[in-house]
Amino acid sequence: MQDTIQKITTESKAAIHSAKNMAELEVIENKYLGRKQGELTALMQKMKDLSVEERKQFGPALNELKKLIENEIEIKKQEFENGSWNELAEKERIDITQPALPKKQFGHLHPNTLVQRDLEDLFTSMGFLVLDGPELESDYYNFSALNIPETHPARDMQDTFYIKNHADWVMRTHTSPMQVRAMQKYGAPLRAIVPGKCYRNEATDVRHEHTFYQMEGVVVDKGISFGHLKGVLEVVAKHLYGENTAVRLRPKFYPFVEPGVNGEVTCFTCAGKGCRLCKNTGWLEIFGAGMIHPNVLKEGGIDSKVYSGFAFGFGLTRLVMLKYGIDDIRLLESGNLKFLEQF
Ligand code: DAH
Repeated sequence: MQDTIQKITTESKAAIHSAKNMAELEVIENKYLGRKQGELTALMQKMKDLSVEERKQFGPALNELKKLIENEIEIKKQEFENGSWNELAEKERIDITQPALPKKQFGHLHPNTLVQRDLEDLFTSMGFLVLDGPELESDYYNFSALNIPETHPARDMQDTFYIKNHADWVMRTHTSPMQVRAMQKYGAPLRAIVPGKCYRNEATDVRHEHTFYQMEGVVVDKGISFGHLKGVLEVVAKHLYGENTAVRLRPKFYPFVEPGVNGEVTCFTCAGKGCRLCKNTGWLEIFGAGMIHPNVLKEGGIDSKVYSGFAFGFGLTRLVMLKYGIDDIRLLESGNLKFLEQF
């Protein structure tokens, strides 16, 4: 017995000492103290077969050895734990002398969005709602509800993207369909603008693009006159191009207004004297407008004997091109960063 105790003492010490990691240490712990097959455990179980004398002699020695092994293992465990913390700290060390990384690149607003938001601010300051509408529109809202009947030649004016297998769906050709949708939803009185994407089946060139933006406006109330229309358009023109800007309205046919006008503003580059931008006319064409046709009010569920209204449609894309001197409309939807990074 004495020899075995001695043997376990030396061997276990050496084993614990040379353990290289936590896993090895656990194996060693099991080898000596394991409840089923531990060598020391086995020895302790043998005690019951010994005489009282022998038990007195070896009992304390065995307990002593058990404590010793447990103690050694605990010390080694601590060593490993501290060691791994050191490794972690080393891995996560921050080198505060390292130079800063290059500045991150952030995106920014598209020129179209800049102009759109500027106008949204102006119109909301005059009590207008800002509405959004579907780009995939029904033939009804895009044409019929706007007093453009099936057979009307006005339908040929706009080369439209129709949707395969959906005879009555179109990609909206203008933002005007929202006039009727807004009237149906909000009724009268109504003041709203609708900025948004429109589509036409164009052969593209520097001045034509299949995708572009408009901003529609609609006002309905009792006693609305042409004077109100001109007043609002003048506020917009002065906001865009300065106090000395004038608005010129000339008759133009649009089926959804009566009377309808073509709206021009004083050319901002030559102050009306005539230049290349305005093709020597002194005027820039930027919107269509008019008094809402009674048939359109009717489609919107509004009694034209009680209410009247005006509507206008700005070529938002055109405003952007004029503001920034962009001479090719295709750049705006190109996603070309060399172009976009200028704004
Ligand atoms: N929807 C017309 C277009 O796309 C523009 C327009 C003209 C809108 C007259 C209007 C309007 O609201 O009254 O050419």
